[in-house]
Amino acid sequence: MNKQNRHLALAAAFAATCAMAGSATAQTPEIVETMRTLSGKQKARPSGAKGQCFTGSFAPTAEAKAMSKSAVFAKTSTVVARFSVGGGNPKVMDANKAVNRGFSFRIDPGGAGQTEFVMVNAPINFVKSPAQMLEFLKVRLPGADGKPQADKIKAFTDANPETTGQGRYLASKPVVGSWVGVNYWGIHPYTVTNASGAKQLIKFKMVPVGGEVGLTEDEAKAKPADFLLDELKGRLETKKPAGFDMVAIMGKAGDEKTNATQMWEGEDARPTVKLGTLTIAALEKNETCDNAIFDPTTLADGLAGPDDELFLQRQPAYAISIGERL
Ligand code: HEM
Repeated sequence: MNKQNRHLALAAAFAATCAMAGSATAQTPEIVETMRTLSGKQKARPSGAKGQCFTGSFAPTAEAKAMSKSAVFAKTSTVVARFSVGGGNPKVMDANKAVNRGFSFRIDPGGAGQTEFVMVNAPINFVKSPAQMLEFLKVRLPGADGKPQADKIKAFTDANPETTGQGRYLASKPVVGSWVGVNYWGIHPYTVTNASGAKQLIKFKMVPVGGEVGLTEDEAKAKPADFLLDELKGRLETKKPAGFDMVAIMGKAGDEKTNATQMWEGEDARPTVKLGTLTIAALEKNETCDNAIFDPTTLADGLAGPDDELFLQRQPAYAISIGERL
């Protein structure tokens, strides 16, 4: 069975399990359906609809090897990556500040070591649980008159103030001037385990090697709708920096593991360890990224995600979504 068919089979099996069990995870098909409704049931992704696939490589550091026995930190690996502009509109303007920028990538050291990350340019998520995500989406559906229900959105926001944090973070930053000129975070805390069995809680952050590129409002207004792709193509043609340092933000005992709307205490000032460098090398046909999902729960041995429903529901959500959009 090829990867695409595997995902479709997984999606069907998952939907059947949810229908039978009526568990908390039963929200996931409805979440994806609501996302698709809100994005007009177009054929692209209902989140990160606009994007472009690239290939590259990941070279780990010796420090990474000491922290995790994972195959992705053993040697240089190939990378398939997709940069996106958030939301379900494939024609969104690249200068739109209200949505995030996404960075999904697969590091493939061969064999069982394949590892996937799906990151955004904010250190926090806009919801802490699938249940909160479903409500967040449902209040944004139009009412019977076809108009937005401002009173419902306000009531939800008042009762769930943490859902405004990511938007406020994005609004506080300049317009992103380059897909490889902004920090991306894995958001969820992960546990890394080394060859001696020592464990460490970390968060993953991608720091642009060429520095951050922010635009003023006036500069952004002067840009064409799809400038991010041309900007990155231009960098590759002129051999300008197009990559990231992968760093581990060090966690400690007592750190929150299951509320993705919150940063850790003093997170920005925490010690970090450089785990490697991810280099974007070439444009890739979009089919390579579109015919499969990036699944943040696909992690090589030595890396583990949190026991958090929000994290755990991402694989089934992406599996259902690819079944709808292919
Ligand atoms: C910290 C939490 C999350 C982050 C940072 C995040 C980020 C992203 C990004 C960047 C994409 C674009 C993927 C790509 O380029 O291939 C995406 C797609 C998507 N996300 Fe999430 N997401 C999160 C949680 C969730 C959850 C909990 C759900 C639903 C239960 C969900 C549903 C979706 C769906 C349906 C897609 C489209 C997937 C596809 O068609 O391939 N996300 N997300």
